[in-house]
Amino acid sequence: MNTATIRSACAKVILCGEHAVVYGRPAIALPLPGLRATATATAREPGDDARADDVDVIAPDINARYWMRLQPGRPIARIIQLTLTRIGMSPEHADWRPFTLSLTSDIPVGANLGSGAATSVAAARATAAFFGQALSPEDLSALAFEVERMHHGTPSGIDNTVVAFEQPVWFVRGQPPEILAAAGALALVIGDTGESTPTRVPVGDVRAAWQRDPVAYDALFDQIARLVIQARDALLANDLPALGDTMNANHALLQTLTVSNAGLDALCAAARGAGALGAKMSGGGRGGNMIALARDDGHAASVADALRAAGATRVYRSR
Ligand code: MEV
Repeated sequence: MNTATIRSACAKVILCGEHAVVYGRPAIALPLPGLRATATATAREPGDDARADDVDVIAPDINARYWMRLQPGRPIARIIQLTLTRIGMSPEHADWRPFTLSLTSDIPVGANLGSGAATSVAAARATAAFFGQALSPEDLSALAFEVERMHHGTPSGIDNTVVAFEQPVWFVRGQPPEILAAAGALALVIGDTGESTPTRVPVGDVRAAWQRDPVAYDALFDQIARLVIQARDALLANDLPALGDTMNANHALLQTLTVSNAGLDALCAAARGAGALGAKMSGGGRGGNMIALARDDGHAASVADALRAAGATRVYRSR
């Protein structure tokens, strides 16, 4: 019988602290459990093809099908190989079975919602589970981080961490994450500008600007770090208006870093116009998604309507 092993991983948003987090400042990120990438591992019968030592990778969303060993530089091939190595599995192993790994995702690509990290974590989970193993969030995060480095050269590690743990996290580069359960209760509305930019572009531009003027940029990163600390205090005190204020102030600093754009600014303005307590771009920027803090679920519905009316191509809710 050819049963399928199916595993998935969630999308994410950055509540505050993006970009500065690349430079060692703290940031807070939240999972979006309702938006997921799904990986399905299915055994191939010996004799189905001549590549019993290989993995057949199928990604219909990006119109791709290839053999892992023939295209080892592709992100999905890389995460499968990293996972096989981590669990000690190879074609030489007595328990090896050839398989097909198929990946689909509801998470838009290049929209700052962690689609790359979610794809990696889903693929790693399904590959390990196919051979009867389960990886810890720490292991999954470390494996996905290797692939994140292919997407952009200097990732902080926040995306793979929040996706692998599927919990709100307080994150500082190089340190174990702290789970910030209070952030899970927020009524966030996420609005997509419909413009997509690979994270490496704004991250590279910020790096170039920092290299030109490290004093000014370090001061901006420090200002962002202070806001992230204020955001955590507000979260722990359940002071939503204070949290909203820090989000607005964080957005202004991201504008100064030039990673926001007209589409993101317009959606933030629309959300605030609908009474959102705070609104900001989220993630790499220059398009992609913004987040708005609503008072509660009922209010989130009217913020969502305002975002749609202002041109958001998709709107999601954090809960
Ligand atoms: C991407 O979700 C967040 C950035 O800070 C990049 C990173 O931390 O690697 C823009």
